[in-house]
Amino acid sequence: MPLSSTILGIESSCDDTAAAILVNGKIQSNVTNTQDIHRKYGGVVPELASRAHQSNIIPVISEALAQSNTTLQHLDAIAVTQGPGLMGSLIVGVNVAKGLSMSLGIPLLGVNHLQAHVAALYLENSVQFPLLCLLVSGGHTQLIFLKNELDFTVIGETIDDAVGEAFDKAGKILGLGYPGGPQIAKIATTGDPKRFKFPDSQTGHLDFSFSGIKTSLLYFLRKESNENSAFIEENLDSICASYQQSLIDMLLKRFNSAIIQFKPNSIGIVGGVSANALLRNSVMELGQIFDAPVYIPKFEYCTDNAAMIAKAGELLLEKGKTMKLSDTPYSRNEYL
Ligand code: KG4
Ligand code: ZN
Repeated sequence: MPLSSTILGIESSCDDTAAAILVNGKIQSNVTNTQDIHRKYGGVVPELASRAHQSNIIPVISEALAQSNTTLQHLDAIAVTQGPGLMGSLIVGVNVAKGLSMSLGIPLLGVNHLQAHVAALYLENSVQFPLLCLLVSGGHTQLIFLKNELDFTVIGETIDDAVGEAFDKAGKILGLGYPGGPQIAKIATTGDPKRFKFPDSQTGHLDFSFSGIKTSLLYFLRKESNENSAFIEENLDSICASYQQSLIDMLLKRFNSAIIQFKPNSIGIVGGVSANALLRNSVMELGQIFDAPVYIPKFEYCTDNAAMIAKAGELLLEKGKTMKLSDTPYSRNEYL
C-alpha cells in the first residue's frame, strides 16, 4: 500500500472529460462527461472536443471533489493523461493539472493513457504477475506482457486500425451512429454469428490488422445490396453478430498463441472494447482452459475514465516519477 495519499485524476485525451478522486488506493468518486456533440459527425471532431473539454473540465473536477467530500486542500498530487491522444484535448487537461499543481504546491504526475487502461485492473484486483494483457481501445490494440506494474513489454500490436475502430467504422457503414461498438454488440445479441464469414488477415505472429475486415464488410454489403436492396435491413442482427464474432476470433487467436508462448500467471483485458460481452465471456473461457486467473475491469473502468488515471498516477507517485512543468503532452504513444 502506498503512502497515505489523495490523488485527483484528470482525463481529456479524446472525447470524454473525466475526473476522479483516489484515496489510499480506493476510488471515492469517478465522474465522466461524454461529449455528445460528435455523434452527428459519426466520429470525434478534434477541434470540437477541445472546446467541449474547456467548458466541461472545471465542472467535472468540482463534481468529483464534491462527490468524494474532498476539497482541493486535501489533495496530495494531481495525475493527468499526458498522452497519447488528441493534442488539443490533452492540452486542456494537462494545463489545468499544471495550474492546480502549481497553485497547491503538490506533485504533478504525467500518465500514459494506455498504461492507465491496464492500471484499471489494479483498482479491484491484487494481480498475479507476470500478467498478459490484451489492450483493446478505439485507438490501440496491443498484447502486453507485464512482469510487474511498471515493467511493460508490447509483444504484439495492430499494424493499421485498432479493433475499436473496426467496430466504429462498421457502425458507420451500417448507419448505426458513433460509437459503433456498443451498438453492434447490442444488435448482435439476436443474430447468428455463423451466418456470414469475414476473413482474418495475414500478419506477423502476434500482430493484428483490422483494415482488411472493414473493407471486406463494405464490399460484401455492396454486393448483397445490389441483389437485394433490403439486405442490410433484413439481416442486420446476423451481420452484426458475424462481424463481431470475426473480430473477437481475430483477437482470441493471437491472445491464445501469446499465452502459450509467454506462459503468464494471469491474463486480462482492458480498454473500451473490453466492455464487449462476447469478448469478456470468451476471455473467461480462455482463463479456464489455461487455468489462469482472469482480470476484467468493471464497465465504468473499461471505456475512458479518470479512475484509471488516478491509479496509474499513484504508481508514479510511489516511484517518485513526477512530471515537470516544462514537460508537454504527446499525441503518439510513448511508453514511459
Ligand atoms: O478506451 P476507449 O473508451 O477510448 C480509447 O482510448 O480509444 O475505447 C473506445 C472504443 C470505441 O471504439 C467503442 O466502439 C469501443 O471502445 N466499445 C465497444 C463496446 N463499448 C465500447 N466495442 C465493442 N463492444 C462494446 N460493448
Ligand atoms: Zn482509452
